[in-house]
Amino acid sequence: MTRPHTIPSPNIWNWPGLYEAENRAQDVDGRIPDAVRRIAPWAGSTIVDVGCGTGFHLPEFAALADRVVGVEPHEPLLEEARRRVSSYSNVEIVAGHAESLPLDSDSADIVHARTAYFFGAGSGPGIVEAMRVLKPGGTLVVVDLDVSASPYGDWMKADLPKYDCVAVESFFHAQGFELERVDTRWQFDDRETLRAVLGIEFTGRTAARAAKSIPGLGFDVRYRLHWRRKPTGLERV
Ligand SMILES: C[S@@+](CC[C@H](N)C(=O)[O-])C[C@H]1O[C@@H](n2cnc3c(N)ncnc32)[C@H](O)[C@@H]1O
Repeated sequence: MTRPHTIPSPNIWNWPGLYEAENRAQDVDGRIPDAVRRIAPWAGSTIVDVGCGTGFHLPEFAALADRVVGVEPHEPLLEEARRRVSSYSNVEIVAGHAESLPLDSDSADIVHARTAYFFGAGSGPGIVEAMRVLKPGGTLVVVDLDVSASPYGDWMKADLPKYDCVAVESFFHAQGFELERVDTRWQFDDRETLRAVLGIEFTGRTAARAAKSIPGLGFDVRYRLHWRRKPTGLERV
């Protein structure tokens, strides 16, 4: 069942197998998890991954964290995520969405959301909900693609000419988030998979143009990490 606030995600909803290949190709040097760990260490923590999809990132969290909770609104992906983590005793998968997390208040050290366009301008209800679920001192980390960098950002702009990245970043800034930009490399095993993955992310025309402009099996992609800590109590001025 699809729940009220859910934003359709055609790439992973319609092509979960190709999205798996995309996830394997993304950030092959692990720059994003490195940055997230620097901002909020994982060892011994409780991590909530909101919009976890098929749970691709959960095993990496589970290797260091005490407890990992994957939250996902789309039923077929929930099943995939449950299958993936069935052998992990410290991971659970629950149905829910960012704006209403089925979790206790003050229960998590980190709330993480990756390629989480449901955390964009106007996502106040999701931010308030993450702050409720976080323990004092806990951290909300939102990881999303950065349209400002070539070449990936140019392809996004071609397909989404009205997308206003300045407005999105201003929204997070006004909500008290810090920003870190992370440069990564996507690397594929073969051209066929590279082309197919571009085909689930972009219109046919943009995907064809992108594939033509890539000489080998990889290209650069920049991400934005927006993060904000829950206050620990009365702050001294
Ligand atoms: C692009 S996918 C990313 C999945 C996963 N984070 C990953 O990196 O593999 C976005 C996910 O967000 C989910 N989603 C959409 N709206 C949501 C909402 N309001 N709250 C939580 N998740 C949502 C979609 O069902 C989809 O699984």
